[in-house]
Amino acid sequence: MNTVKTVRELRAAVARARSEGKRIGFVPTMGNLHSGHIALITKATQRVDFVVASIFVNPLQFGAGEDLDKYPRTLAADQEKLLQAGCHLLFAPSVEEMYPDGMQGQTRVSVPQLSEGLCGASRPGHFEGVATVVSKLFNMVQPDLAIFGQKDFQQLAVIKSLVHDLNMPVQIIGEPTVRAADGLALSSRNGFLNEQQRSVAPVVYQGLTQIGGAIKQGDRDFPALIDAQIKQLETAGLRPDYLEIREARTLRPATPEDRDLVILVAAYLGTTRLIDNLHINLDATA
Ligand code: PAF
Repeated sequence: MNTVKTVRELRAAVARARSEGKRIGFVPTMGNLHSGHIALITKATQRVDFVVASIFVNPLQFGAGEDLDKYPRTLAADQEKLLQAGCHLLFAPSVEEMYPDGMQGQTRVSVPQLSEGLCGASRPGHFEGVATVVSKLFNMVQPDLAIFGQKDFQQLAVIKSLVHDLNMPVQIIGEPTVRAADGLALSSRNGFLNEQQRSVAPVVYQGLTQIGGAIKQGDRDFPALIDAQIKQLETAGLRPDYLEIREARTLRPATPEDRDLVILVAAYLGTTRLIDNLHINLDATA
């Protein structure tokens, strides 16, 4: 696996693969790779002939006071994991390579509505930063398909929407969240948890499955379901940021008549913000 750091080298390597008739798959990441990321690479290797990953901790999507500086950077270990997983090319640019003229005057891509509320409410500008960097990366790599984790459900919705609205010829694939044995969604931020916090963290997913179970049983009193789980999170020592039931495709607040639902949560454990979600389609046969 080759690692390139410039857009020029990236384009040359992708052009070579294309000239050999290969289909290109792309997995954008911020590094500190775990099994969740590796599942995305594995999926890509099954779907295309040439897999490109990127590692770039994008300053544009971090707000003031967020964890940009302490976000873990583990390039050597990540390269090894990508190699083992069958990735063909890693693009690991510097901030200067991605934003050569600085970020102030950088053209932005924003996806209204889907970016509002949920994580967008507590992280102003976050999705604009994501949409902008993903658009840039898509233009640099020009992949046939790109794969993202469903753990970032709102992010995936934003990316699908921008690709549709801007007529980008990229197929977007969402892959199921990979979880630890106790249910905690894998995340680079889990590394910030101390032992005690780590032992409490599975309550986030347990809460989602309890609400999901109740809805499947026919309970449609969404406010009561949410209230009970918020109390449960608080009792466990978490500080919920939001816990909401939304219509899965549009992300508008769910009504009792909706059949395709997603329950989304963000909660602080100490200073670490954990997010997770549970998608339940009441019409699905499985
Ligand atoms: O999900 C992430 O790791 C990031 O938001 C992404 C999509 C790589 C954009 O920086």
